[in-house]
Amino acid sequence: LPAVGLVGWRGMVGSVLMQRMAEEGDFARIHPVFFSTSNAGGTAPAFAGMDGDPGTLKDAYDVEALKALPIIVSTQGGDYTKAVHGTLRAAGWDGLWIDAASTLRMEDDAVIVLDPVNRSVVDAALEAGTKDFVGGNCTVSCMLMGLGGLFTAGLVEWGTAMTYQAASGGGARHMRELLNQFGALHGEVAGELEDPASAILEIDRKVIELQRSGRLDASQFGVPLGGSLIPWIDSDLGNGTSREELKAYDETNKVLGRTGADRIPFDSLCVRVGAMRSHSQALTLKLTKDVPLDEVEQIIAEGTEWASVVPNDKESTVAELTPVAATGTLRIPVGRLRKLTMGPEYLSAFTVGDQLLWGAAEPLRRMLMIATG
Ligand code: HSE
Repeated sequence: LPAVGLVGWRGMVGSVLMQRMAEEGDFARIHPVFFSTSNAGGTAPAFAGMDGDPGTLKDAYDVEALKALPIIVSTQGGDYTKAVHGTLRAAGWDGLWIDAASTLRMEDDAVIVLDPVNRSVVDAALEAGTKDFVGGNCTVSCMLMGLGGLFTAGLVEWGTAMTYQAASGGGARHMRELLNQFGALHGEVAGELEDPASAILEIDRKVIELQRSGRLDASQFGVPLGGSLIPWIDSDLGNGTSREELKAYDETNKVLGRTGADRIPFDSLCVRVGAMRSHSQALTLKLTKDVPLDEVEQIIAEGTEWASVVPNDKESTVAELTPVAATGTLRIPVGRLRKLTMGPEYLSAFTVGDQLLWGAAEPLRRMLMIATG
């Protein structure tokens, strides 16, 4: 069995990856070697499907131990990639590096993996000797898992995405902070809420007072997210664009293998909302021609096995097209499909995806299975 180094398996993305690998029986197809940045020498974990003793944890900074492996999968984060990947390559390691972090994504010799959409790009890269395979930005991956059919059919002239991104995109601590804020806000007015006759404007006043007071813990997001939203994600590029918004353009095209003048203009406005772990986005797509709506729906539904068209009516939408409905599933619902009054080439769409599954762990898991045959 191919030996595979696993780094960052204990973190949030790593835990989802381990869970998916166990569910799919992947541990029976590899020989996992577990690394740790903090607990080298400790007992390695045992997951369903593993054969034999998991052994002890190796030091994630031990270049010699890493170099011995033909494949390394990292969900440890960008700082780890920065610290270790270059050193390993400089030491002559030419194994496959499969990574969730954005550090290497836009490097010329790295491929963004999302095989249900870009298997041909992945296969061509493996054939050409590419060694670095990186999972895409969660919003991009979820969008393409839903709407990829239209893109790969060459039907998208340009697009915009207005996003509604969940707390998990920031990390585990951000999810806790959001829930603590909701709890504190509720606690502030719990007495009034129990009395149906209490004045709603007084409740509202107390809530906004707490949100503005600095007394809510907002150390992760910087400002309160509970009962609010934050229309900026990731760093400020200084040109009116956030790094998350730049990724949407860059990575969408890179996943599709489009470069130079072939790139599709794709603009985003990325917003953090108080959802837990599913990212949503409202899209406007300018199609290259007037494709009838039933054909659009068929192309989307056939685009990937996981894309699922939700009828554009209220009942179906509220039941199926929400973070609550999508979380914990690999299904990518796509709904609110209609032609806009601007003209028959203008399509409106809304899609939701679990940002820890297709947005992070699943493309890596599948790449590992492609690489190990
Ligand atoms: N940058 C994303 C977010 C998560 O903050 O939601 C990772 O792709």
